[in-house]
Amino acid sequence: MNPNKEQTLLNIQKIRSEFPILNRKVNGNPLVYFDNAASSQKPRIVLDAIDEYYKNHNANVHRGIHTLSQEATVMMENSREKIRNFINAKEACEVIFTRGTTESINLVAYSMEPLLKPEDEIIITEIEHHSNIVPWQIVCKRTGAKLKYIPLKDDCTLDIEKLDELLNENTKLVAVNQVSNALGVVNPIDVIIEKAHKAGAWVLIDAAQSAPHIAIDVQKMDCDFLAFSGHKMYAPTGVGMLYGKQEILNQLAPFHGGGEMIKEVWMDHSTYERLPFKFEAGTPNIEANIVLGTAIDFIDSIGMDVIHQHEHEILEYTRKRLLELDEVIVYGKDAELSGAVSFNLNLPGVHPSDVGMILDKKGIAVRTGHHCTQPIMRRLGVKGTVRASFTVFNTTEEVDRLIDAVKLSIRMLG
Ligand code: ALA
Repeated sequence: MNPNKEQTLLNIQKIRSEFPILNRKVNGNPLVYFDNAASSQKPRIVLDAIDEYYKNHNANVHRGIHTLSQEATVMMENSREKIRNFINAKEACEVIFTRGTTESINLVAYSMEPLLKPEDEIIITEIEHHSNIVPWQIVCKRTGAKLKYIPLKDDCTLDIEKLDELLNENTKLVAVNQVSNALGVVNPIDVIIEKAHKAGAWVLIDAAQSAPHIAIDVQKMDCDFLAFSGHKMYAPTGVGMLYGKQEILNQLAPFHGGGEMIKEVWMDHSTYERLPFKFEAGTPNIEANIVLGTAIDFIDSIGMDVIHQHEHEILEYTRKRLLELDEVIVYGKDAELSGAVSFNLNLPGVHPSDVGMILDKKGIAVRTGHHCTQPIMRRLGVKGTVRASFTVFNTTEEVDRLIDAVKLSIRMLG
């Protein structure tokens, strides 16, 4: 790794200047933000778009003949079109606005419920976030369907050979993340999609940790559903999206009932709107839905390939520097990683939060704990990990500061 190579790929100082929060000091030190997998920071273009919406266009959407309502509607539908383009969906009606990945997965789980019979089976994996485990447990309990999972191997990759044993004619859906939020491990979704489709099952991809870092093409992937959250990719919290193939979404029951998702309502029954509105009951998070499109403009202004390349170099540099330290265990040390690297100090009695606190004193923000993935932690035999997760504005100098602080933690806690 040439530590200066990043400078040739993108103008890192210019990009950093677009994030006002990077002017902050934390505990007397310039902020090093390595908690991007939990939530990303927001560039000025996104902050300005929030301001512009409320100052000049704020009104409810799809409900008014008046100018402001029409403007807000056009802005939100333009954003839907940007998302369609971002993931290369065939039609904008296949993009449903949600509150985030968790709500998107719950939408699929609850909307599939009427289709599930006790003999049916759902397959997940041991490397999922709780949001791709618990909704399936709930829906399987309600329907009697069986929940199975692909186990994790000691090297922190999925035991993909087991998928052949798990799939059968009763498998209705396989749900898997493209990138693990806890470990950064990249999963072989192409193999999973191909095998699942051969067995006649649908596939849901949790792209919460991949959409900010890897170009997504749902048509090329041929997934049936894909979900991501805006707040991990420069947009505000409380917004995300669910992609679903049109013919499949049309087979699902509505998730929420209410205004805007109906065609007609009588006192004893209702008929439902066409896609995507059938799944968008109530007043949406208009500002965030619009600004998710602005966040995509920000990504496009740099280029996803450039972002990916830069983040990959930062990640590989971090992995290499951490592996130089005898006292550090890196999880998935030989696996393909994206966006994040998870580690622990191999010292008796040291908890990841001890390291997190020392790092914070040095102005370095990381996430510590189980990362909403208790089954992974149980599999690794640890209570939690320290996770450094990256974005477009991170630099190798920041990684050097992390390594210095990790060395300090080893000295203080050893
Ligand atoms: N899912 C987010 C994370 O991994 C919150 O930190």
